[in-house]
Amino acid sequence: MEAIKRKKIVEALKSSSFGEKVNIKGWVRTKRGNKTVNFIAINDGSTINNIQVVVDMEKFGEEILKPITTGACVSINGILTESLGKGQSVEIQATEIELYGAADPDTYPLQKKGHTLEFLREIAHLRPRTNTFGAIFRVRHQMAMAIHNFFHNKGFVYVHTPIITGSDCEGAGQMFQVTTLNLYNLKKNEQGQIDYTDDFFGKQASLTVSGQLEGELAAMALGEIYTFGPTFRAENSNTPRHLSEFWMIEPEMAFYEIADNMQLAEDFVKHCIQWALDNCQDDIQFLSEMYDKELVERLKFVVDNEFIRLTYTEGIEILEDAVKNGKKFEFPVGWGTDLQSEHERYLVETHFKKPVILTDYPKEIKSFYMKQNADGKTVRAMDVLFPKIGEIIGGSQREENYEKLRQRAAEMGVPEKDIWWYLDTRRFGTAPHSGFGLGFERLLLFVTGMANIRDVIPFPRTPNNAEF
Ligand code: 4AD
Ligand code: MG
Repeated sequence: MEAIKRKKIVEALKSSSFGEKVNIKGWVRTKRGNKTVNFIAINDGSTINNIQVVVDMEKFGEEILKPITTGACVSINGILTESLGKGQSVEIQATEIELYGAADPDTYPLQKKGHTLEFLREIAHLRPRTNTFGAIFRVRHQMAMAIHNFFHNKGFVYVHTPIITGSDCEGAGQMFQVTTLNLYNLKKNEQGQIDYTDDFFGKQASLTVSGQLEGELAAMALGEIYTFGPTFRAENSNTPRHLSEFWMIEPEMAFYEIADNMQLAEDFVKHCIQWALDNCQDDIQFLSEMYDKELVERLKFVVDNEFIRLTYTEGIEILEDAVKNGKKFEFPVGWGTDLQSEHERYLVETHFKKPVILTDYPKEIKSFYMKQNADGKTVRAMDVLFPKIGEIIGGSQREENYEKLRQRAAEMGVPEKDIWWYLDTRRFGTAPHSGFGLGFERLLLFVTGMANIRDVIPFPRTPNNAEF
């Protein structure tokens, strides 16, 4: 086969240099035709759109075309031609065809269009080859770029916090343990407790639930930082919004009060959504047509509207009024209880019809590190609540007072021996500061219009599911 430099399909489709000899490589989506001409639709992942290859059957013959079936990988030389067919402007008249790999039609699982998302989860190793998952993973990449772009342009420093940790940042005890101990032969002390001094790190270690604590250390030196990495939670939540392994973006800023934190969060998510509208048009258009007709409208709506700012106490009052007026919730509403997704969505979708930032939660339902308000009952927490998603961001102003922080950690059962280094920031040059965490996959749910978080990460990890 003649050596011609490969052109990506996204470029070929934009080109108008008709008559040019090109090479494209990719996977066959469909093949149709008759004894005189065949049409092969090829996709190489560079765009949602396929390129059509026109094959003169008198030139190539049945034998060559036979193994070129859905899923096969091919390299094709041909002439870039203006297309007369509808729905495309460019096609390729094949001059040479090389088969890299056939895909046996009897066993290749992606034969027809319209497989269910549930079925595709069972073949997560192949689902990137569908239009839907190609689109989602390109959008996922674009969102990662949007995030780095936002913080980089503001002068934030990207800090890599550890994945293996000895402390439970959220204090919820939902951590996956990391060990090299022989689980078949655990050494225990007289009280029956496991002796971790023999373990790899000489102490009990786990996968992190958040990079925040280390992020705060960095903010106390670099000023404004962010983390963007995987986090792990061993909570047994089988919902469309929870993963056991998910990615989180956590900015942390010295000298930010809660109001500054809220503004940054609002600007940040709006930037990401605007980026998607600007850079993922074809993919979002496709996803919208397939799964969610109002997607683009909803994205624009969020970008164009101020988020509502509301205290938890005011939020509870609205929910209690709703209950008085006949609204039925599955979970009870009352000051002091944590809001369930149904409550969050009522505030956002029914009451305000806008994203809401809820602040000043009861201290009992929030983490030990949040700044305590003067009322002695609430802390300077903030959750950003989104339509269809519920909580997309959780954050707070941090308690910068050493004694108050130490006392609250003790009250909430966070051992000082695990966080002495974190407490030290309050002993040496403490400063008011704030931060938050955005769940990357929750953002992707919103931006793609998908309904299940398992469909916006390449290989989802959930209870009883770690295949691939
Ligand atoms: O509210 P969370 O637990 O907050 C923290 O971890 C803080 N340390 C963040 C900070 O202040 N730096 O989690 C933050 C966000 C949530 O709002 C949600 O979007 C996402 O992380 N999240 C999950 N996403 C998918 N699966 C899960 N199991 C998630 N748990 C939280
Ligand atoms: Mg939260």
